[in-house]
Amino acid sequence: MADLDNVKDAKMFYTDVPAKNTPFFLKGSNSLDWGMKNRLSNIFNPSTGKTVMLAIDHGYFQGPTTGLERVDINIVPLVPFTDTLMLTRGILRANIPPSYTGGIVLRASGGPSILKELSNEELAMNIEDAIRLNAAALAVQVFIGGEYETKSIHNMTRLIDKANRYGIPVLAVTAVGKEMVRDARYFRLACRICAELGATYVKTYYIAEGFDTVTSSCPVPVVMAGGKKLPELDALTMSYNAIHEGALGVDMGRNIFQSDSPVAMIQAVRKVVHENMKPQHAYELYQTLKNKIDKKKSKRSK
Ligand code: 5RP
Repeated sequence: MADLDNVKDAKMFYTDVPAKNTPFFLKGSNSLDWGMKNRLSNIFNPSTGKTVMLAIDHGYFQGPTTGLERVDINIVPLVPFTDTLMLTRGILRANIPPSYTGGIVLRASGGPSILKELSNEELAMNIEDAIRLNAAALAVQVFIGGEYETKSIHNMTRLIDKANRYGIPVLAVTAVGKEMVRDARYFRLACRICAELGATYVKTYYIAEGFDTVTSSCPVPVVMAGGKKLPELDALTMSYNAIHEGALGVDMGRNIFQSDSPVAMIQAVRKVVHENMKPQHAYELYQTLKNKIDKKKSKRSK
């Protein structure tokens, strides 16, 4: 036991204390406050620096879309394999066990349904409820080039101002209208605007040409949105490429919950994101896990 009144002991004790603080592990986030960094560490795994976010917020404008008809049955089994859930407060309260210890990213914008102009969103929850629900971050849609571009950017900046007061990160989601050209130039523009105006991290779509320029010109972490359902090997390849081109994780929905075997798919995605597994190997893992799950199911039904 060190006697700190003794000069010799005290010297040894204090020189063991690291002189410098270790820089925070996430890109562009070192100057954030402790609470903000702590929340981000509940989204991005500090040992790999990456995240597997499961996006199940589609119902906020699409209603019970394919795969999300019954969150209690279809989604709850996936929850143990996530680092983070991205969802609405309604689904969180109704379906997700409060014992969940991953990060909760709450959808905080909304308004129009698929029957209307989607870019015409408003902020759709207040900061007190986000704190009550222990949100790790708040997500807001930004429609660069959309009809209500300015309004959506102001939604984001107002949310950032409110969330900053309490150390809550804001995820800016770059929404792409049907008429938008999905190229590197567009995504560089969209992601950079979100970061410049204060988003803590940004979610955007993968593109085959120049995705590395989208991530490198964005000063804060970028996570990849999954987009429409692809064959499993293609979705795993897209995730692998995105990570290798600078994404710090995936925020996938349909490519997981609309998969033939969502529980197998999310485990394969984890291997790609956190363990750098090659897409073909991850696909073989997916098939092995799927076969096991299918066998169990068929035994149960006999
Ligand atoms: C909706 C969203 C979704 O979270 C996003 O689309 C991710 O889901 P998917 O991988 O199915 O595209 O932000 O606007």
